[in-house]
Amino acid sequence: MATSNMGQQLAQRWCSDCHAVGLENAEAHGSVPSFVSIAEMPSTTSISLHAFLQTSHERMPNLQLTQTEIDDVVAYILSLKGK
Ligand code: HEC
Repeated sequence: MATSNMGQQLAQRWCSDCHAVGLENAEAHGSVPSFVSIAEMPSTTSISLHAFLQTSHERMPNLQLTQTEIDDVVAYILSLKGK
């Protein structure tokens, strides 16, 4: 799937310094939630992820993603649910 593949590359590039972004290393990176665990949270939806990525946060830098990049990375995170 083109979209989540783009999202995966984005995640690898912009998010993997802090987050475990793949399936293989879901336990890595201490207190920062892995993308698998984010995907599994009952409160996680496309809307909640968009909202999170469009606002600023204390412990996470502002990433200045474009709307398309947000859509792609959100699709990728949601694709990890149930994996
Ligand atoms: C510099 C480190 C850093 C980078 C880079 C980073 N994050 Fe985060 N992220 C964090 C931390 C720390 C938290 C926990 C925030 C908190 O608990 O307030 C977090 C939390 C999150 C959450 C919310 C989880 C929840 O509990 O609801 C999402 C979604 C998320 N990050 C997505 C991303 C995406 C997508 C990227 C890349 C585009 C990214 N992050 C890049 C450090 C980072």
